[in-house]
Amino acid sequence: MNMFSNERLAVAMRERRAIKHFEPSFVIPEGDRKHILSFATELDLGFNMPPLRICRVSDMALREQIKEVGFQQPQHTGASELWVVCIDTKALSTKEAEHARTQAMFYGAAYSQALMLGAASLGYDSCPMIGFQFGPVGELISLPESYVLCNFVVMGKRKKAPLTRGSKLAIEDVLFTDELV
Ligand SMILES: Cc1cc2nc3c(=O)[nH]c(=O)nc-3n(C[C@H](O)[C@H](O)[C@H](O)COP(=O)(O)O)c2cc1C
Repeated sequence: MNMFSNERLAVAMRERRAIKHFEPSFVIPEGDRKHILSFATELDLGFNMPPLRICRVSDMALREQIKEVGFQQPQHTGASELWVVCIDTKALSTKEAEHARTQAMFYGAAYSQALMLGAASLGYDSCPMIGFQFGPVGELISLPESYVLCNFVVMGKRKKAPLTRGSKLAIEDVLFTDELV
């Protein structure tokens, strides 16, 4: 059976939630990690060689240090996986620093969403995160100069249910035709 069938993807999109508290002893097998990553890199972002670079932080001592500069959020040490999503700007067409950073942030966001949907399709929980100090985290993981650090994606198994979901905007408040009024 196709692991990423339409039905599973639809359920993943509807039911994926941002999880704060994870089972620390839970392990995501390497095969599933590879499936999640290959799913994300199938995204069409106009690259044959996607500029995505991920630092998977497995060393718990390093994860503790990240928590110190990450506002003590429980996911930093509780999640099974902490992936630092980066974009290598050398792989982008633009050479202008600010433009490269802007591009990197939207590629990083798109990849991160795909990573989380891939994880949800396999039954894993996740959370996107920007709640940390970017400079110190970059130093902790030896971020190369050409890389832009976009965000974290943490994954694992929920220990506590998320809070009730807030209401979503009505479609008619989102979609306009020809003019944004
Ligand atoms: C860009 C971004 C950064 C986020 N950073 C954090 C974070 O640092 N810590 C956290 O607990 N949740 C973080 N979240 C998760 C949001 O709190 C969550 O998406 C929001 O509450 C909606 O939850 P839901 O996806 O379960 O509906 C982040 C979400 C986004 C999109």
